[in-house]
Amino acid sequence: MSDATPILHMLAPQKHMSPFDVNMAADAGFKVIVPYVNVDLAEVTGLIQDAIFSRPPNYGPRTGFFMGGKDAILALDMMEAARKAMVPPFECSTFADPAGSFTTAAAMVACVERVLKLKFGRSWKGTRVAVFGATGVVGFASSIIAALEGADVRLVAHRGVDRVVKSAAVSKERFGVDLEAVSGETPERRRDIVADAEVVFAAAAAGVQVVSADDMKAARRLLVVADVNAVPPPGVEGMELFMDGAPLPGCDALGVGPLAIGDIKYKCESGLFRQMIESDGPVAFDFRHAYAMARKLTGLA
Ligand SMILES: NC(=O)c1ccc[n+]([C@@H]2O[C@H](COP(=O)([O-])OP(=O)(O)OC[C@H]3O[C@@H](n4cnc5c(N)ncnc54)[C@H](OP(=O)(O)O)[C@@H]3O)[C@@H](O)[C@H]2O)c1
Repeated sequence: MSDATPILHMLAPQKHMSPFDVNMAADAGFKVIVPYVNVDLAEVTGLIQDAIFSRPPNYGPRTGFFMGGKDAILALDMMEAARKAMVPPFECSTFADPAGSFTTAAAMVACVERVLKLKFGRSWKGTRVAVFGATGVVGFASSIIAALEGADVRLVAHRGVDRVVKSAAVSKERFGVDLEAVSGETPERRRDIVADAEVVFAAAAAGVQVVSADDMKAARRLLVVADVNAVPPPGVEGMELFMDGAPLPGCDALGVGPLAIGDIKYKCESGLFRQMIESDGPVAFDFRHAYAMARKLTGLA
């Protein structure tokens, strides 16, 4: 491993780089951290090439780029632009985690997978999943990860099914997965969706309750319900912050709460930053690597 100072260039397409991610990078060991804001996709090539040619090739793995923002596809496009900008042997490492969504989604999928395995002897193959907050970055990334593992995923629209139809089309084109877009705009529709699901991912905005106790009471097939929202009220009625496979009150399903997920998410993001610093060669991490790390952290791999 090179003894070069670990430097992280953090790119955000919007006007702030997330303080959360800056702190995570510093605590993982990056010594120099530089945020860049309002970054256009077209500017990534120039930034990467400016960085890689300033250090000898063996310092490349100690030069990192982080892609933040609030848009999963844009962050992946920035990763691709970075990859194409490299001029071997002048290379650097990259990591995309827009709004913490890749590591959060990876943690949620792995935490639920552990409960499915330990309590029901099940895997993701053929498991029916309903995703609330599907147009958000966490909902989107968790849908893709679960679908790539063989789950049968429904994206629930809370206003206008067209936007989730668009997400499903993008997912098919980019990742080859078939996601079903469904309307969840009325309480009756939401109840039917929960009744038909074996797993629910509640990934809606902070402080928004999307699944009620009554919805779950009527759901006979429901095995596990996960909620990433830590801001009261919970995204799922009756969910407790640290639940990790405990029964949800008033129904047969088991709950996975936001701080059980948050614990794995934190270790996952920190672990990927540390891998960037410690690697002998350049690495490129996205939601797939986050999921592999989350599976290790949950004892699944
Ligand atoms: N536990 C953890 O470690 C952790 C880490 C990161 C984030 N989080 C949490 O994860 C959640 C999602 O974050 P995100 O960054 O993906 O958020 P986001 O991009 O803002 O997405 C929020 C989603 O919620 C939907 N939504 C908004 N209001 C709603 C309502 N009244 N009913 C139903 N759905 C509604 C949005 O739909 P529209 O597109 O229609 O607005 C969107 O699909 C948040 O609660 C956040 O706090 C948790």
